[in-house]
Amino acid sequence: MISQQTIQQILSRIDIIEIVGSFVRLKKRGTNYLGLCPFHNEKSPSFTVSPVKEIYKCFGCGRSGNTISFLMEHEKYSYAEALRWLAAKYNVEIEEKELSPELRQQQQVADSLYILNAFAQKWFHDILLSSEEGQDIGLSYLRERGFNDDTIRKFQLGYSPESRDAFAKAALTAQYNLEYLQKSGLVVVRDERPVDNYRGRIIFPIHNQTGKTIGFGARIIKSNDRAPKYINTPENEIYVKSKILYGSWLARQAIDKQDECLLVEGYTDVISLHQAGVENVVASGGTSLTVDQLRLIKKYTNHLTIIYDGDGAGIKAALRGLDMALEESLDVKLVLIPDKEDPDSYVRKVGAAAFREFVAAAKKDFILFQLEVALKDAAGDTNKRAEVVGQVAETIARINKAEDFTKRQDYIRQCAEILRIEEAGLHALVNKFVRERIAKQESKAAAASPAGEMPIGEEGMGIPVPGEEESLNLLFKHEQNERGMIRSLLDFGLRPWDENSSVAEYILSESADFYDLIDNRRLIKILDIYKAWYEEGLEPTVKNFLYHEDQELSTLAVSIMDFNDELSPNWKEHFEGKIATRDDLYKEDVISTLRYLKLRKIKRLMEENQQDLSRPHTEEEQMVLLQTHLHLKQLEKDLLLHLGTVIVK
Ligand code: CTP
Ligand code: MN
Repeated sequence: MISQQTIQQILSRIDIIEIVGSFVRLKKRGTNYLGLCPFHNEKSPSFTVSPVKEIYKCFGCGRSGNTISFLMEHEKYSYAEALRWLAAKYNVEIEEKELSPELRQQQQVADSLYILNAFAQKWFHDILLSSEEGQDIGLSYLRERGFNDDTIRKFQLGYSPESRDAFAKAALTAQYNLEYLQKSGLVVVRDERPVDNYRGRIIFPIHNQTGKTIGFGARIIKSNDRAPKYINTPENEIYVKSKILYGSWLARQAIDKQDECLLVEGYTDVISLHQAGVENVVASGGTSLTVDQLRLIKKYTNHLTIIYDGDGAGIKAALRGLDMALEESLDVKLVLIPDKEDPDSYVRKVGAAAFREFVAAAKKDFILFQLEVALKDAAGDTNKRAEVVGQVAETIARINKAEDFTKRQDYIRQCAEILRIEEAGLHALVNKFVRERIAKQESKAAAASPAGEMPIGEEGMGIPVPGEEESLNLLFKHEQNERGMIRSLLDFGLRPWDENSSVAEYILSESADFYDLIDNRRLIKILDIYKAWYEEGLEPTVKNFLYHEDQELSTLAVSIMDFNDELSPNWKEHFEGKIATRDDLYKEDVISTLRYLKLRKIKRLMEENQQDLSRPHTEEEQMVLLQTHLHLKQLEKDLLLHLGTVIVK
């Protein structure tokens, strides 16, 4: 692991214009730089880089990030690889940090498994190509299916002989230990004797992004009712099924270039398509897509096209994971292969060109497809139809990122048309689901925090607002203020508050327990890390978060820092005649944001107290509750006095 000191050194030298500028032609425009976006095709430049904030954003495709995420995305580096690349560029010597004993142990197991898998993969491959049994049974099977030698080599296919322990013997002779042989799933122990697990099967090695073998799928050759068709590697330190997309190591570049990822079910579908020259394809292994897999795809493209056979059970499984894709802003299309074919057999039958044409023509939008299927099921049944409307509204509500706003509107329009209902009605329904989702997330966040008993959500928001639109606006405002708080801390934390203390110290002391003031868990995480660093004597700045290893945090930091230097929502515009910036008024910025958050907390407490009051009490208890109420009311009044009417309209 690279030490924090080294990382600091690298970060202090980063010049985003220089780095991004070496991949993209940039021209200065005001304080920013502008160029053609390297992540999507465009003719007029909308890719903007801010040297001051050290972030980039494309106003065309919406991608944004910092220098490191640029390298990760553009060059397909991992976080550590990007750091090492920068270190080499700036001549920073890398100091490695000692790993904790548990981590080192894990690392060792992983390393051993990689080495063992590499050995096994080569062994199975050699047996397939060079042994008599391999050629007679394995190779002839693969050739019969139409796989040529280049393909067999490219995918490093193999064969495991039928003998009880040929592989185990070879591995033990080569000094691999039995414990790892079992962990890797290659060998099982029966009656105290090692037995090969994939006997008499075709071996499909499974690779991670960088091409290392992490496991195997072993296919039976002659169908047999008693044995499973495939045996797969069990979960271990390096084989984590939910994160694997078969073929991704070979498909990365093609996916990037064509800005589309094709997803099929099986190993053989991937291999056949490759052989036909369709290379932007990966397989999920026939189960529902996981968030990790979707994120992996999203690293390379926003366009996912799922190609399954029409009548298989697979399509149902695949659809199940797809609502998540919407939340990840992935654009999902669906293609069903007709007539009991699968992509493997179909591409073989019609050839690559016709396959591509078919896919392009048969592509259906995932949401509209789902709607059509459901409508067909509901045919004529009014109750069922109402259910369908609800379902589609819920699905659309998941399209929730600000940049996807127009996409959501489009779906509402199209679905309303298909359903033959009023667009406004569907709109309202979608909004209801959006609200419910936000409330659910908020209460989940609150439940996870120590102050979890706080009632929030629809009724408990503390600030009673009737209309739908209004309550959405309020949620938005809360979020903005929470972000504003963090932004003030990151921007101004190290500046003086008074003679004795810094802004950071003021903020941290004023809100000893942020869990009460801030709902967003990820923002709290930033605060926690800031606090820990600050107490260690480091001087955290926004950079430490922009370049944080945790991509979720760094993305959040980028979005907090965003481009427009708008004033925080509680801003007085004019200050002694000139337009004041946050920079001039940082103390006021901090104070008013804190006030807003505190006010919200008081409102929540009042609400709670109110609810308490409505239950039966002894006279004494009643007194205490009333006093509490008056006290809170007074606090609220004081805060409101200072706040003016800027926030709470
Ligand atoms: N699969 C599995 N275990 C099974 C059946 C299927 O893990 N018992 C996974 C495999 O990843 C397989 C995918 O689901 O590749 C799709 O299954 P299927 O279509 O049955 O297999 P194919 O790979 O298409 O194999 P073939 O073309 O040889 O029938
Ligand atoms: Mn198949």
